[in-house]
Amino acid sequence: MRASPRLAVCPGSFDPLTNGHVDMIVRGARLFEQVIVAVLANAEKQPWFTAEERVALIREVLADRTDTANVSVEAFDGLLADYVRHRRATAVLRGLRTTSEFADEAQMAMMNHHLNPQCETVFLVPLPGVSFISSRLIKDVARMGGSVEGLVPAAVVRALAARRRPSHAVST
Ligand code: PNS
Repeated sequence: MRASPRLAVCPGSFDPLTNGHVDMIVRGARLFEQVIVAVLANAEKQPWFTAEERVALIREVLADRTDTANVSVEAFDGLLADYVRHRRATAVLRGLRTTSEFADEAQMAMMNHHLNPQCETVFLVPLPGVSFISSRLIKDVARMGGSVEGLVPAAVVRALAARRRPSHAVST
């Protein structure tokens, strides 16, 4: 069966969504007719946010924008290559922040293509202003009480503040 034209899946853990992700989603929405932000349900053993919370946060952030009308958000589980086939997408959209990420990302792209030859991976290079942001670093900074303003959308700043565990109390 022929794949739908120009539908891209933008997969990730999104625990939580960052301004780097938003940059990639917005630019993907300009390149493709339709983009599905696909949130991996079992991203980590102990994610800060459940899949439902991550999906809801991304939807809330994108609802405030005028340039993401062709973007939808949903959770997925299992192999990305299977999900891409199920959705009849032709492309997987990933960001490439650093050269050190390239090896892992290229390997993943090759495996996805092996599992589903219809599945092409398109890499976008983030804007320099957001290229140092990662969900892992955001959680580290938030956990230790640092400011993540300007690095994640306002709704995510609020969600992180509500979730933050105190790091100052050292048990003896
Ligand atoms: O935001 P992340 O954690 O970098 O996203 C990684 C993700 C979700 C794209 C990747 O872990 C994935 O596709 N997981 C689904 C399971 C799968 O297909 N694994 C084989 C990948 S080659």
